[in-house]
Amino acid sequence: TDGDLNYQIDFETDDEIGTLIKSFNLMTKQLATGREQIALSGEMLKQQNAELEKGRQYIEIVLENISAGVISIDNKGTIMTINKAAESMLDINSRDILNHNFKDVLKNDYLKIANKINTQVAQGQETLRIPLSATVSGAPKHFFLNFNTLKNDQDKNVGAVLVFDDVTELEKAQRVAAWREVARRIAHEVKNPLTPIKLSAQRLKRKYGKEINDDVFTSCADTIVEHVDLIKNLVNQFAAFAKFPDANVTQCRIENIVLETIALYREGLENVDIKSRFAENIPMLKLDQQHMKQAFINLVDNAVYAVNKKGTILIDISYDEILKIVRIEIADTGKGISDKEKTKLFEPYFSTKKSGMGLGLAIVHSIISDHNGVIRVQDNKPEGAKFIIELPAYS
Ligand SMILES: Nc1ncnc2c1ncn2[C@@H]1O[C@H](COP(=O)(O)OP(=O)(O)O)[C@@H](O)[C@H]1O
Ligand SMILES: [Mg+2]
Repeated sequence: TDGDLNYQIDFETDDEIGTLIKSFNLMTKQLATGREQIALSGEMLKQQNAELEKGRQYIEIVLENISAGVISIDNKGTIMTINKAAESMLDINSRDILNHNFKDVLKNDYLKIANKINTQVAQGQETLRIPLSATVSGAPKHFFLNFNTLKNDQDKNVGAVLVFDDVTELEKAQRVAAWREVARRIAHEVKNPLTPIKLSAQRLKRKYGKEINDDVFTSCADTIVEHVDLIKNLVNQFAAFAKFPDANVTQCRIENIVLETIALYREGLENVDIKSRFAENIPMLKLDQQHMKQAFINLVDNAVYAVNKKGTILIDISYDEILKIVRIEIADTGKGISDKEKTKLFEPYFSTKKSGMGLGLAIVHSIISDHNGVIRVQDNKPEGAKFIIELPAYS
């Protein structure tokens, strides 16, 4: 019960009852202070708990809202936390891995990497920075993994925190920039001597062809001229990749550029069906028409090759009014692209074709980048490949 501890007996006497009353009064007084103290400590505890809870919630909110993926594990390797960014970056569901040991979650190469990290930690390494390439739901990704061991006050290892940065777009841009520079130099160095070589061969043929009257002579001269033209063509492709003439940007309809591109392929492809599907709300875009058309030609060219004379190519354009992004999908029912190939696709000189230059997609990538857009590749369902371009619409 909630006894009244302030109750005091008011009675003066020197006998035993008097002593009893005194002790009683003392006791109730002490009990009262004790209860006050308990109430006070209870209040303090409550406050501290509330502050701790606030701190915990704050950390949780921070973790959920940063763009880096964050995963923490305890010192036995059990996965303790995983934030939203990590879930979407790695395409995993926290429910499937929380409270599981990483050894049960990871497979093959990833387990090898984890074991390597483990050995290094065992040797006293506390932080690691590891570049990682992975295919996440069919799309190639590049990450930087930052690994930090966690220590408590007594310097005891209590686990580790892993922070993932998605550097896919950055890496692609850097690689393309490097290749552009190489291409620019090659184009420059090789192109200059070509014209005099060709002119000289033609001149020799003109001047001495009749006089010498030998098939070998004329055919050699012709071969030189012909191959110089081939090299010139290659160099021009280099140059196109290295630097486009300055962009000539106008307001235009991307649907028209797509239709013009398709028109180029109408003839001569009997069993290849090239279809288009445009949403009704596509805004006008500020584009370099010529470059954009070149990009679509390169993409359709690849798709036509991939379907190998028989199949369907669908170009779909839609508009996200909230994000203000125009999305163009070019899907084909061709042979598709392996995960390994996907990681190299946009690099110059990557080709699986006998006579492929491997510049097509590198050029597409730089055109789309010049328009502040992005391009990525996915598997098409049920078969083939799908290239997705996203362009910002500025009003
Ligand atoms: N739609 C597609 N389907 C299958 N593979 C493709 C497709 N588009 C591109 N590729 C692959 O990407 C490679 C690079 O393409 P690209 O840069 O245009 O160079 P190239 O066409 O000269 O080979 C191709 O060799 C091919 O392996
Ligand atoms: Mg190509």
